[in-house]
Amino acid sequence: MKILGIEHIGIAVNDLANDSPFWNHILNIKHHSTETVESQGVTTDIYDTQKGKVELLESLKPDSPISKFIDKKGSGIHHVCFEVDDITNAIKELKENNIQVLTDKYLIGAEGFKVVFIHPKSTGGVLVELAEKP
Ligand code: CO
Repeated sequence: MKILGIEHIGIAVNDLANDSPFWNHILNIKHHSTETVESQGVTTDIYDTQKGKVELLESLKPDSPISKFIDKKGSGIHHVCFEVDDITNAIKELKENNIQVLTDKYLIGAEGFKVVFIHPKSTGGVLVELAEKP
């Protein structure tokens, strides 16, 4: 597979209204978009440094992956996302190498990206997202 760069860092937050001003107004990173991603049960609030984004993740419901993560570990870095040129090919390669992906096929994530997540067991402890630009 071909990694094109770090697309974003995903950060689980308790409350966007409370936690986003630091990124927006103190670090002064330009706001890019806010979007509800039903498939993941989250609101994503994205800031773009132009050299990698910050994706704040607020849970929409108590049983979402972000809620479970916060219950277990507290708020903080949730995943790192790398941009790939061809996600279908990337998933195929991962499976061939017995890397544990969370879904057999890509999902449609924020901004229409095709995404797949790799289990932390396979990466040394970090949830890794791969994403192909729409
Ligand atoms: Co992400």
